[in-house]
Amino acid sequence: MEDFNDFREQSLPLIEKEMENFINDYTTNNQLKEAMLYSIRAGGKRFRPLLVLAVLQAFNKEVQTHDYQVAAALEMIHTYSLIHDDLPAMDDDDLRRGKPTNHKVFGEAQAILAGDGLLTAAFQLIAISQIESDQKILLIQLLSKAAGTQGMVAGQAGDLQGENQSLSLSELVDIHEKKTGALIEFALLAGGILAEQPEEIVLLLGTFAQHLGLAFQIKDDLLDATSSEEALGKQVGRDEALHKSTYPSLLGLTGAKEALEEQLVFASTVLETIKQTSCEFHSELLQELVEQLRL
Ligand code: IPE
Ligand code: IPE
Ligand code: MG
Ligand code: MG
Ligand code: MG
Repeated sequence: MEDFNDFREQSLPLIEKEMENFINDYTTNNQLKEAMLYSIRAGGKRFRPLLVLAVLQAFNKEVQTHDYQVAAALEMIHTYSLIHDDLPAMDDDDLRRGKPTNHKVFGEAQAILAGDGLLTAAFQLIAISQIESDQKILLIQLLSKAAGTQGMVAGQAGDLQGENQSLSLSELVDIHEKKTGALIEFALLAGGILAEQPEEIVLLLGTFAQHLGLAFQIKDDLLDATSSEEALGKQVGRDEALHKSTYPSLLGLTGAKEALEEQLVFASTVLETIKQTSCEFHSELLQELVEQLRL
């Protein structure tokens, strides 16, 4: 079994190449291109595209160019969501991925357009890829659902509407599942589809992703309350300043840590179930990605 760090180091340049090439080849306005590349090149953990590829590895599938393109498309949508999330009208943040936020460098109008560009590019990249037509349509359908008005965009709307409100835990879970969980769920579903797994397995991967996605945002909430700007490459304490409902604000730090651990245990349990259901499945790499979310 390949080591997680090797997997990450081998995969990242290929994901990044697909994003860079697409933006370079398909963006006709140079300033727009520069703004899009600025946020893409700022890095980040690349958690979502790595998940897509980890599923393929888990089923011993050779990773092909079109798989990297789907992973790249997902990371472009995620990066767009961050550019818009940081805008003054949203979370009003100055630092992202260790660098000034997109609008601080390029101005608000160009930052909005850089986000629009990355969002649209993602769908164009999948549309022109060499994926068999039925699979391609399914992926586009799932990605639009995850990114849009049933997923991330809806979650972001709920997050902003929830400022200065006291939300219930179930309302907060709904926001977290949409704003963060939906794109993470897409990563696992896309991996399962590209690995040509039966529906039963793809559904189990989706269940795994629901726990992983909720854990991801609980951890993000915890780090906002407990970590540092240097460690995260983004401002901290913003959730409290903006009066957001978060896991720590609703459950306290201890309660939030317990909720995170609970979701991670559930996620690992689903991996075991997938192992029992499919003899082709190797859970190690995905289990490593679960471990990345432990505090
Ligand atoms: C930050 O996502 C926004 C959330 C959904 C919590 P990441 O923590 O994945 O940010 P990067 O991609 O590593 O910068
Ligand atoms: C953002 O959640 C979720 C997105 C869809 C971008 P946050 O607003 O908590 O993300 P950070 O903390 O700014 O990265
Ligand atoms: Mg936000
Ligand atoms: Mg934010
Ligand atoms: Mg946050």
